[in-house]
Amino acid sequence: MEKTSHQTMRAVAIDEFGGIEKIKPRKLPVPQLATDEILVRVDTAGVGVWDPFEREGGFTKEFGMKANFPHVLGTDGAGTVEAVGNAVHNLKRGDRVYGINLMSPKGGFYAEYTAIKANNAAKIPRALSTRDAGVLAVDGVTALNGLDKMLGLKAGETILILGASGGIGHLAVQLAKRMRARVLAVASGRDGVDFVKPLGADKVIDGHREDILNAAHEFAPKGLDAALLTAGGKAAEQAIAALREGGRAAYPNGVEPPQARDGVKIMSYNAEPDPATFAKLNELIDAGPFEVHIARTFKLEDAAEAQQALNDHYLGKLALVLS
Ligand SMILES: NC(=O)c1ccc[n+]([C@@H]2O[C@H](COP(=O)([O-])OP(=O)(O)OC[C@H]3O[C@@H](n4cnc5c(N)ncnc54)[C@H](OP(=O)(O)O)[C@@H]3O)[C@@H](O)[C@H]2O)c1
Repeated sequence: MEKTSHQTMRAVAIDEFGGIEKIKPRKLPVPQLATDEILVRVDTAGVGVWDPFEREGGFTKEFGMKANFPHVLGTDGAGTVEAVGNAVHNLKRGDRVYGINLMSPKGGFYAEYTAIKANNAAKIPRALSTRDAGVLAVDGVTALNGLDKMLGLKAGETILILGASGGIGHLAVQLAKRMRARVLAVASGRDGVDFVKPLGADKVIDGHREDILNAAHEFAPKGLDAALLTAGGKAAEQAIAALREGGRAAYPNGVEPPQARDGVKIMSYNAEPDPATFAKLNELIDAGPFEVHIARTFKLEDAAEAQQALNDHYLGKLALVLS
């Protein structure tokens, strides 16, 4: 196995689960590699809306995972491969990679280095910068799993994407267009509408100001084929009401579950990374210009401020930058 010359690294960790005040910049050992892992020198860490759930111990409860304190936070990011385990053959030192690292006992992406299962990572699509790819992994896999595995979206179908200016949503709009669907994007605010329009949606409305049912009826008079819901509440209920008989909706766990409706299928799911999903995501992204949007960046040491900013209105994603 190739070794990094560094023994310690800058990281942001917690010593116990809890509030934002538990987040502390630390010097910690660089994680050791298992044979099926890669060591990534992190360039950018995504700050996901689920990171407070990680910090509060939600994932350990939900998935029966164990925490290893001090726990380095951060579930996705991107960087350069520094070393690979003996059983890793698809990636090599120097590759630009992005990936997912959920509650690993070796820690996550809020650090200069992270050890990650090779199957949970992939080479960065050619046209994307390492910076932008830092916020792609969880939301990209979640967007694609929703459109493809859960909804089985087909060319020519109509789909409503709720939360289209958010992390999953802005990626899902572009992926759904690459899958040749007709997309009604429901964005947040006027800035959200302006942001999503150039991403190729067939129609974009502001879900806080415009009537979703009316817009959907104009867009697909016989009812929509599908809906991807990245937000809950009244807007999600309206999206479901706008589906045709036999239509289907999917939402990632974390979104407030919408009420069931007779005659439509409503599915919840999780992002499940695997090499085939990453390959398909990369292929779709590589098919043309693709925007992965970072609204604000923060220094690693300002991770607490970044998590606080998750409560604000912003477009796309937030990120920590290490280089
Ligand atoms: N289970 C999994 O594997 C998994 C993976 C990834 C994400 N998730 C979950 O999926 C959800 C979405 O994730 P994300 O990263 O996309 O979060 P996000 O960036 O916060 O996206 C949600 C978006 O919905 C917008 N929104 C809320 N109400 C709206 C309305 N009425 N009309 C139009 N837009 C509206 C929000 O805008 P404002 O903030 O401006 O209101 C925000 O931009 C979260 O609950 C997350 O925890 C689950």
